[in-house]
Amino acid sequence: MDAADLDSDLSHVLFTERQIRSRLRQIAGDIERDYEGKDLLLVGILRGAVMVMSDLARLLHRHVEMDWMAISSYGSGTASSGVVRILKDLDTDITDRHVLVVDEIIDTGLTLSWLTSSLSSRNPASVAICTLLRKPEAQRREVDVRYVGFDIPDEFVVGYGLDYAERYRNLRDIATLAPHVYS
Ligand code: PRP
Repeated sequence: MDAADLDSDLSHVLFTERQIRSRLRQIAGDIERDYEGKDLLLVGILRGAVMVMSDLARLLHRHVEMDWMAISSYGSGTASSGVVRILKDLDTDITDRHVLVVDEIIDTGLTLSWLTSSLSSRNPASVAICTLLRKPEAQRREVDVRYVGFDIPDEFVVGYGLDYAERYRNLRDIATLAPHVYS
């Protein structure tokens, strides 16, 4: 879907498909430089990271392996309690591997903070994070977020993998929702 398909549902477009692609191309260049001569395992966090994972991986001019995890917080159904359980674990043994976790957004930072310490306990060569979007609160956490696409204000955003009630993930752009959609 394009923003034009959803005009009355959206408040404003934050990043177009073209802007996202351009930023991911820059990040891909950084990753190629930083991991030169090293093997690399990309770990996408289902479900929102599907778009960024697939675009980022294809922008890399090198071999990578890809694996996926699904995680969920207990209780509230949001990922922000910091108490996380693994719904789908990696199929890959990450011992001595360089792991780059790929996610679409860091909000509080609690999920990826927990995840990186969980993955670190498996004796990888390294664990780092790449996120397309980062909200302000996450910047205060001690998480090794090595690659950030865009810092955004604390607004509810949808598109490019991000959902509201499971909708809007297939919007090509990233946009804020009009209040009438969720009020
Ligand atoms: C999002 C995102 C992160 C998490 C970040 O997932 O993919 O995993 O929230 O939140 P935090 O920084 O506040 O912990 P979400 O729970 O929306 O699941 P989804 O990817 O399946 O939509």
